[in-house]
Amino acid sequence: MGLIFALETSCDDTAAAIVDSTGSILADMCYSQQEEHAAYGGVVPEIGSRSHIAQINYITRKAFNTANKYPEDMCAIAATFAPGLIGPLLVGANFAKGLSLACSRSLIAIHHIEGHILSGWGEPNFPKPPFLCLIVSGGHSAIYVCEKNFTMKTLGQTLDDAAGEAFDKIGRFLGLGYPAGKIIDQRARLGDPKSYAMPIAMREKTHMNFSFSGLKTHGLNLLREKSSWHTQEINNFLASFQEAICQALIQKIILATQNTGLKKIVLGGGVAANSRLRELISQECHKHKLDYFLPPKNLCTDNAVMIARAAQIKYQQKKFSNLTTDVRATLGLEEKIKLNII
Ligand code: KG4
Ligand code: ZN
Repeated sequence: MGLIFALETSCDDTAAAIVDSTGSILADMCYSQQEEHAAYGGVVPEIGSRSHIAQINYITRKAFNTANKYPEDMCAIAATFAPGLIGPLLVGANFAKGLSLACSRSLIAIHHIEGHILSGWGEPNFPKPPFLCLIVSGGHSAIYVCEKNFTMKTLGQTLDDAAGEAFDKIGRFLGLGYPAGKIIDQRARLGDPKSYAMPIAMREKTHMNFSFSGLKTHGLNLLREKSSWHTQEINNFLASFQEAICQALIQKIILATQNTGLKKIVLGGGVAANSRLRELISQECHKHKLDYFLPPKNLCTDNAVMIARAAQIKYQQKKFSNLTTDVRATLGLEEKIKLNII
């Protein structure tokens, strides 16, 4: 069965999961801190760290109880070691180290973005590498290639804000709560995307990078122009803003297929739950005769199943970590050596 227990605590979710060697999910638990941070319009690291400490034992026990398994039934213990908020990462990584020591099982350190890329591993339509990945979250927006042996290479990334960050900042200005992506997605469905002209940066076909800060500033300036907005005007604004983000993402991932000759695309990260992005990727892939994989929406936003699935691949490749492996707030996907993967 080769079961792996994994923790994900890089930001504001205390998540634990148990997955078998085929990727099947035996347990998928998550405590979301969203309400604890909502009043501040963003994640407060100190509150986050303390909340992870308060929840991690309970969430871990819940995962083992749900799967009806014991730590000794696992072949490895995994956790997110990078990138993320240092305090929250330390809570999950040290808990995982303690558990691996207590039950004498291997420790596997996972890169959060690798988790997003492999969130659908084991699902029926998940492609065999090599494939392209478009990972769009609150902290990252980037295009990667996942090579045959599951090594990842960055092809392009945002030069400033991530797409989710742009959604969240507009949402914060409008008082839509935090994070705002899901509510913007719902409100945009009620609006006309052609209502407001929005800039799409980096249209040139010479590279695969993104930029969303100009769009965000343009959006905020538009909103400041008038003191009162009708509900329908806001829906129209949000639909136009969302359309610009989705078009920018789609243009670059299609360019990546042309530049690399790869014909399979995997989406991931919280923004991959966006209904317009999901609709556009299916339309464009159909038009360009490409294959695509969209993870179920619950596996797009942060979760521990994706960490457990990424750990299954590391386990099969015998890429283990040890008690000296340290967490890192920032770490490129290519820099895994710094996670002491041995
Ligand atoms: O992957 P994730 O859960 O956490 C990070 O690793 O950052 O992504 C969170 C981001 C937030 O910015 C949130 O606003 C955005 O994903 N998000 C969405 C949707 N659901 C979550 N953005 C657009 N449409 C959605 N449906
Ligand atoms: Zn994430």
